[in-house]
Amino acid sequence: MTYDFTYEANPMRVRFGAGSLSVLADELDHLGLRRVLVLCSPSQKGTAERIASMLGDRCVGVRADAVMHVPAEVAKRSSAEALSLGADGCITVGGGSSIGLGKAIALVHGLPIVAVPTTYAGSEMTPVWGLTTDGRKETGRDIRVLPRSVVYDPELTTGLPVDISVTSGINAVAHAVEALYAPDLSPIVALMAEDGVRALASALPAIVADHLDPQARSDALYGAWLCGATLGATTMSLHHKLCHSLGGTLNLPHAPTHTVVLPHALAFNQSAAPGAVTALSRALPGSGDPATRLWELCRGLGAPRSLAELGMKEKDIDRIADDVTSRSYGNPRPVTREAATAILHAAWAGDPPTDIGQ
Ligand SMILES: NC(=O)c1ccc[n+]([C@@H]2O[C@H](COP(=O)([O-])OP(=O)(O)OC[C@H]3O[C@@H](n4cnc5c(N)ncnc54)[C@H](O)[C@@H]3O)[C@@H](O)[C@H]2O)c1
Repeated sequence: MTYDFTYEANPMRVRFGAGSLSVLADELDHLGLRRVLVLCSPSQKGTAERIASMLGDRCVGVRADAVMHVPAEVAKRSSAEALSLGADGCITVGGGSSIGLGKAIALVHGLPIVAVPTTYAGSEMTPVWGLTTDGRKETGRDIRVLPRSVVYDPELTTGLPVDISVTSGINAVAHAVEALYAPDLSPIVALMAEDGVRALASALPAIVADHLDPQARSDALYGAWLCGATLGATTMSLHHKLCHSLGGTLNLPHAPTHTVVLPHALAFNQSAAPGAVTALSRALPGSGDPATRLWELCRGLGAPRSLAELGMKEKDIDRIADDVTSRSYGNPRPVTREAATAILHAAWAGDPPTDIGQ
């Protein structure tokens, strides 16, 4: 193989390990932070308060109002609170919603983020922010929102319900799948993507069997780190555009939508992405093409199968197909209106993935 690539690494500081929450104060020292605000979703308030009491007077407060897609009014209230409390940084505890809120504050006030991720969504590894105003989600890239330090403690993920663990894990796999056929893929990102998929594909069945399994929880979070890093390092294609449109337009749940759509988007792209097929065939269990292996893996995990069961109506297929074909983005195969409609229809109905257009 002859190489031809550009690689630019995002700055990344990671502390990984069971019990690593105990190094949080060291990370604040490392960054010179003395007055942090802890951000979380309502259901993570207990963990956030535990962290606040661990930090003593270095913590100026806890805000437990993070929700999906970062509503602008929530970001505004939390930013004002961070300012009035004289916070010099934020600790985000939880999934993409908590990290998203920290990013919204960082975007306005430049407050550094220390992330403590407890799902597998991967936002902690990206400089991508999102903000929703009047039902419209705006996203952008800004290096100021990339967390300065990330503490991955698998012990904090044992309480993540099995169904969320599964869909969040497949959400992570989706980042790696699209990184493997991204226009800006590089060899190091390909290694991370393949190993991330391998780690999650073996950890998720073990979590379904025993959600407290410490090795499986560690492997899944390790995989999520790698997959998140590939998301931060490359440009995503058709799959992420479909999910962004489905989430933004129809308010479908983020991780379950990724889980349902991924085998179909991959089946469409496989014929134009031989390198991704080779890597995914090594990383995914089973036989057959990677899209079929993924579909079987999701079935074994009890994951949702169709967009219909997530609440999408058949009549909405045309709207989403129009939306994803009206924007321009890189994809290994050109996406026609007919192909987008067929992919969405298969995902809506819960059909097995097939190579539409072949
Ligand atoms: N900017 C990026 O790069 C990026 C990347 C991925 C996702 N996102 C965004 O992140 C959001 C989705 O993130 P998510 O899927 O992590 O969802 P989430 O953060 O909303 O978490 C899902 C649910 O799980 C709960 N939860 C989290 N950790 C838990 C734990 N350990 N135990 C029990 N419950 C727990 C949360 O409180 C929440 O109710 C979306 O808004 C998406 O757009 C952004």
